[in-house]
Amino acid sequence: MRLYINVDHVATVRQARGTTEPDPVEAAALCERAGADGITVHLREDRRHIQDEDVRRLATSVRTVLNLELATADEILALAVSLRPHQATLVPERRMEITTEGGLPLGTDPDGDRRLRDAVARLKDAGIRVSLFVDPDADIIERSADLGAHAVELHTGRYCLAFPDARRELDRLATAARHAASLGLAVHAGHGLNLANVPPVARLPEVEELNIGHSIIGRAVMVGMERAVAEMRVVVDAARVDQASAGP
Ligand code: PXP
Repeated sequence: MRLYINVDHVATVRQARGTTEPDPVEAAALCERAGADGITVHLREDRRHIQDEDVRRLATSVRTVLNLELATADEILALAVSLRPHQATLVPERRMEITTEGGLPLGTDPDGDRRLRDAVARLKDAGIRVSLFVDPDADIIERSADLGAHAVELHTGRYCLAFPDARRELDRLATAARHAASLGLAVHAGHGLNLANVPPVARLPEVEELNIGHSIIGRAVMVGMERAVAEMRVVVDAARVDQASAGP
């Protein structure tokens, strides 16, 4: 099972101050040191967290593989084609959403489907593996195969919201995973996964890649807090000792 870590939230914290830290590129290297198989970032049209320059830097610094999430905006597709990440995951984007709220709405808007078909072709022509972020729905999975994608990433959000009473949602994921695999699609999964709810998804035999962000960045803040405060304690206390020995 490949574990890809989404470091968008590191950029969210940086953007809250408009400074240079914390740096998602540095975070990506730490994720890799800890055993991540890949790094995922979402370059949104509104640039609310990851910036173009982050993606450029990650394209050269990531030692595992880079999975770039994007919608079908022309300039972002052009950036993807020029940087050639290992994988591109096409996702829907709505301006006011807090996070990617649903899978790609395939089959609801002919223009949207045409844009997606063009985007898949453009990315594939550039040698990029293409995954589509979709709800665990048979019709949408068939449409994904028809668009020529290499893989689908099954949206696990509803399963995670229902957890721990998630038998029905887990069954939907399992059925969708089998269906996708039977059509020759690789199967990925992600959204809302955490230490408690990930095991049943990780046990689905067809799922070969997980994309996880929020819970890991949140946990990193907690497990890193004591150390971050202790480091500041040492520096502040050392400054006071220096001041005292220097005299008035
Ligand atoms: N997969 C996709 C396509 C996403 O858009 C996101 C959220 O950016 C994730 C996975 C990761 O979700 P979470 O941050 O809830 O782990």
